[in-house]
Amino acid sequence: MKNSHLPVGLFDSGMGGLTVLKAINACLPAEDVTYLGDTARLPYGTKGQETIVRYTLQAAGRLVDMGVKMLVVACNTATSAALPVLREHFAPLPVLGVVEPGAAAAAHASRNGQIVVIATEATIASGVYQRAIVRIRPDARVLGRACTLFVPLAEEGWMKGPVVTGAVRRYLKDIFSPVVTAPRPDTLLLGCTHFPLLLPALQRVVGKNVHIVDSAATTAHCAREELAARGLLRENRTGICRFLTTDNQARFARTGSLFLGRRLKCSDVELVDL
Ligand code: DGL
Repeated sequence: MKNSHLPVGLFDSGMGGLTVLKAINACLPAEDVTYLGDTARLPYGTKGQETIVRYTLQAAGRLVDMGVKMLVVACNTATSAALPVLREHFAPLPVLGVVEPGAAAAAHASRNGQIVVIATEATIASGVYQRAIVRIRPDARVLGRACTLFVPLAEEGWMKGPVVTGAVRRYLKDIFSPVVTAPRPDTLLLGCTHFPLLLPALQRVVGKNVHIVDSAATTAHCAREELAARGLLRENRTGICRFLTTDNQARFARTGSLFLGRRLKCSDVELVDL
């Protein structure tokens, strides 16, 4: 029996994956989506590989038990650490990550091939982005930088102001300073789903000539292609979203509203234990 009536399952360590959910809602408006944010154990990005794989398997396992027709790992850290494990564990369920789509977006956006990837410590240390971009564009020169503090800033809903600008400067000033000798990077890839919240502050610091890309839209596009290829697409209806969190529904609703750009109520969010 076809599973097209089932929702798409999305998860992240926290709210960041909501940036991907927004893109999926725009690209696949007829699909139901179940989103799980593992806020009790956030951040994943400073944890070791084994812990990230374990948490990811548990979060994904919960969604799979509930019934989903596709899993979207809306977290770069979890994708970097666990995508092959997830694919093997949940086969034949389609499992999409955000790294390949993000790498494709950056490789195509850059004119001079000088690309900076910012992400969590674990994602940068894994080197997956650096490898994925060079696979698509062998002439690219990719510099990775871990920007650990951007995750708590985004989770706190701080998108601008002196603290945010100061943090962005501290992490990126040396790379994008006007006195840096050529060739200057022309593309900044947001390799963490939390980072789009800081977009205006990032653009101000890196300069308006630098193209800032993230993986949300390209991931949504890949999800659409994969569902269509498997005959699982839904159309001509309005999909519904279900929100699950492992801790503090009120906080999820408050900060989640900022990420989604629409109001979430505490009663819209269900508490689950992994
Ligand atoms: N949103 C996650 C990502 O894309 C990172 C947040 C965390 O460190 O848990 O990597």
